[in-house]
Amino acid sequence: MANAIVIDGKDAAAKVIDAVKAAASVLEAKTRVKTGLAVVIVGDDPASHTYVGAKGRMAKDCGFNSIQYTLPAETTQGQLAKLVASLNEDASVHGILVQLPLPKHLDADAIIQSIKPEKDVDGLHVVNAGKLATGDLATGRIPCTPAGAMLLVRSIHGKDLSGLNAVVIGRSNLFGKPMAQLLLNDDATVTTAHSRSKNLSSVTRGADILVAAVGRPEMVKADWIKPGATVIDVGINRIDAPERGEGKSRLVGDVAYDEACEVAGAITPVPGGVGPMTIAMLLANTIAAAYRSNGLSSPLF
Ligand code: GUN
Repeated sequence: MANAIVIDGKDAAAKVIDAVKAAASVLEAKTRVKTGLAVVIVGDDPASHTYVGAKGRMAKDCGFNSIQYTLPAETTQGQLAKLVASLNEDASVHGILVQLPLPKHLDADAIIQSIKPEKDVDGLHVVNAGKLATGDLATGRIPCTPAGAMLLVRSIHGKDLSGLNAVVIGRSNLFGKPMAQLLLNDDATVTTAHSRSKNLSSVTRGADILVAAVGRPEMVKADWIKPGATVIDVGINRIDAPERGEGKSRLVGDVAYDEACEVAGAITPVPGGVGPMTIAMLLANTIAAAYRSNGLSSPLF
């Protein structure tokens, strides 16, 4: 099969953001409540500041009240815990996001688990992980990247994945595990593969839906892919690109994109695939939290 359908994550993200904007203005008209998002960042990692800045700008663009708390690198566990506790009690804050990674001296898990589950718009609290595992997708918050990847899967296959084999490469709490559970929830037959799996390429060749989240540039080759499969590439790897000039680099995914396009039925590019969906789903999770905290059923995305 030549030339896979290229799944446009920017376009899909823009549609989610339009729906979030509409839902935010409906909520404000009905209840006079402005959706509130608190974003907490500790230290001065430039990449984290870039991400957080983008999250805050997009939230404001959707009509949210977005507040960024920028704390110095030497913030103590107690100080950070106190801030989260006060945001938990603040009724005008519907979503709390603590940007990761935190400086090494801080216990990130203790902080994440101290966020009220209903305000945990990253979907990282064990209560939300448990709701996903037990199929309560209506009241649980789903981690943003797998939620976004799932919307891209649905843009090709719809909501019913019965009879389809899905393989997820990667088993992190942030992505691989929740992704596998979302696919299972839509009735796919799901395999989770990882760095200790044997004969990885023979496993992936059985996949109608192949999701790669390993963090190894262009690891998934054309002959790992079943002809006609849908390939979702979650990797974002920066590699040297001397062909672009000295010291230049470029972004590639976990899939060898050009050759994969010759075999796959549909594929997400990097950049422009799963990446843009992550912030869109953060905003979707936040508006859903705001609706629920006002006793309204949350809009679906
Ligand atoms: N750092 C990189 N990605 C993420 C994310 O999705 N959420 C949080 N909180 N931190 C991140």
